Amino acid sequence: MKTITALIVAAGRGTRAASDIPKQYHKIAGKPILYLTIKACLEHNDISQIVCIIHKDDVDLYKETVSEIKDTRLSPPAFGGDTRSQSVLNGLNEISSKFVLIHDGARPFLPKDALSRIIEGVQKHDACFLGLPIVDAIWKMSDNRTLEPVEREKLWRAQTPQAFVTKTIRNAHLKNNNSAIDDVEIARNAGITVTPILGAEENIKITWPTDLSFARRLIGKNMDIRVGNGYDVHALGKGDFVVLNGIKIIHSQALIGHSDADVAMHAITDAIFGALCEGDIGQWFPPTDVKWKGVSSDIFLRKAVSRCRERGLKINHLDCTIICESPKIAPYTKSMQENLSQITGIKINSISIKATTSEQLGFTGRNEGIAAQATATLISL
Ligand code: CTP
Ligand code: MG
Repeated sequence: MKTITALIVAAGRGTRAASDIPKQYHKIAGKPILYLTIKACLEHNDISQIVCIIHKDDVDLYKETVSEIKDTRLSPPAFGGDTRSQSVLNGLNEISSKFVLIHDGARPFLPKDALSRIIEGVQKHDACFLGLPIVDAIWKMSDNRTLEPVEREKLWRAQTPQAFVTKTIRNAHLKNNNSAIDDVEIARNAGITVTPILGAEENIKITWPTDLSFARRLIGKNMDIRVGNGYDVHALGKGDFVVLNGIKIIHSQALIGHSDADVAMHAITDAIFGALCEGDIGQWFPPTDVKWKGVSSDIFLRKAVSRCRERGLKINHLDCTIICESPKIAPYTKSMQENLSQITGIKINSISIKATTSEQLGFTGRNEGIAAQATATLISL
């Protein structure tokens, strides 16, 4: 029976990518890189099993990454070693399929046609790898000044998957005692002939921080873009100041509410919850709960911001309109932008604060209350 396992190595630390978590768990378009890599392998029906090799410290990150994947072809993960080859060998020891496709967890954009080519290739050649002929001019640098031309016609750069008969590559790994650059080298060291198969330009390996932004551009067409709106009103009553977007403004009246009644910040918070489709501020922080009595509204906004991060989204733009006859808002818009920027982590020039009167009409016109509305635009990380 033809059985093919995709062994996805994802136990590296991603030191060159220098992100806060290992690069394979970094999100692109709201999804972890490793999730995209697994999904790309699941695209092909000939793949009968997928095993990820992960680092012992990443168990929780991995669980979260695969939580949405219900395909039973995804087997439990195995643990990696200190080197990529050790991680591969640990994985090879866990599987019994006839063929194995060894693939980097950090290559999320493996196209289905390239995957088909390597699957066909391994059944024909027993050992093959995806790669691309070099198209750029190649120069060998002898020292900082002397360049020598290199004949590029026969040069290929290797990608993954690299595909083998499982037993054969396992034996090759067991015999190998040098640090090898990839599994092609290990196979060749064991005397196995390995055939190059045409890969794909988009099958990049995320290595450096710039690769993360390049990857985002590649996937841009699938970007999640969301717009949410929020609206809030608070009554004016006795007092001598109001708080709007976290800024205290001396006034002849105060806003009445359970918290600090920061109507503008509430509208912004609700706009974000709206874009997330996660209810509203009242559901997250019920006014019946004494815990929220008199609290500063930045607690609510900070919660909405952290939910964005958890959902793999970032706030790209905020627009808030405050509707009142008085106080005058214009002298405070800059402080409001600075405060919102500090809380949300977005740039000041992506935060708009506007104000309008309602021409003395309605409850805002009669100075009975202040209303605010806001729009939040969220994009995938
Ligand atoms: N890998 C692994 N086990 C290791 C080292 C690497 O499973 N001990 C995996 C990585 O997770 C990655 C693939 O091998 O998917 C290719 O390696 P590389 O791009 O070098 O990733 P890292 O080793 O994580 O990155 P760096 O070398 O920058 O630390
Ligand atoms: Mg490495």
